[in-house]
Amino acid sequence: MEQRLAEKMAVVTGAGGGIGKAVALRLAGEGADLVVADINVQTAEQTADQILALGRRALACRVDVANVAEIQAMVDSAVAEFGRIDILVNAAGVAQTGLFMALTEQEWDRVVDTNLKGTTFCVQAVGRRMIEQIPSAIRDAGRADRSYGKIVNFSSISGRHGRAAQVAYAASKAGIISVTQSAALAFAPYNINVNAVCPGVVPTAMWEQIDRDRGRISGRAAGESIKSFIERIPLKRAGTVEDVAGVVAFLCSADSDYMTGQTLNVDGGFEMD
Ligand SMILES: NC(=O)c1ccc[n+]([C@@H]2O[C@H](COP(=O)([O-])OP(=O)(O)OC[C@H]3O[C@@H](n4cnc5c(N)ncnc54)[C@H](O)[C@@H]3O)[C@@H](O)[C@H]2O)c1
Repeated sequence: MEQRLAEKMAVVTGAGGGIGKAVALRLAGEGADLVVADINVQTAEQTADQILALGRRALACRVDVANVAEIQAMVDSAVAEFGRIDILVNAAGVAQTGLFMALTEQEWDRVVDTNLKGTTFCVQAVGRRMIEQIPSAIRDAGRADRSYGKIVNFSSISGRHGRAAQVAYAASKAGIISVTQSAALAFAPYNINVNAVCPGVVPTAMWEQIDRDRGRISGRAAGESIKSFIERIPLKRAGTVEDVAGVVAFLCSADSDYMTGQTLNVDGGFEMD
């Protein structure tokens, strides 16, 4: 595999499973060393072991991204281990499916704190570190000559439109598109690229849960909800975790140096805006 990320140091949240794990393995495959961050330290350690087997360095790190103090501790651990951070991928997230009128304050807080607050404060903490790493003469001039960092956030096709049965999730993912644009503007003087992806239907533990919950609400059997989604995808198949990881790797590489503030749909053509 082309080594586009040789000598880069990446932090991936949610890297214990699903798409985040595939992203971590893909970045390692392209030459990056990794901090594998997840609320589930056992799965983070499994991903880290696979990265070590690829011949890259890896540190498993437990973090609850809904907790800003834990985010800072993750950044401190990353810097202590590797000395710098070049790439951040915010893949950690939780889903929520339920009728609008059944939404509770606790459910709203859980989803918005993890997805939107977590992404925002990971961007802030890692962005601060990326800016500190820029040579002072360039930083003080506020006009960086090359890319000094890559940040990729995870929105969703649910962030593109309202969802009657996913109000908190859709709001959190719409908010991530806005935070991506705000951070891209804030970090543009330092040439730190901030972009996002919107996966469509990707079979993971999260999608299994969504399928079960949608089935419970609508009375459909297991697998029916995901099947009806896939029928509406122009490319007529679900995405794979590798489909998404490939686009994220592009956004982490020099091949996307002239892109910032963008949110790319990785969904087989489900959304086209
Ligand atoms: N699977 C899909 O079809 C799909 C579609 C659109 C968007 N997404 C987004 O992609 C991202 C990855 O989703 P996935 O399908 O791989 O989900 P997943 O549930 O399979 O994996 C999510 C990972 O995040 C971790 N995590 C959860 N809460 C955390 C927290 N508070 N702090 C740190 N880690 C935490 C989990 O332990 C898990 O390892 C999410 O942001 C999700 O919203 C997924």
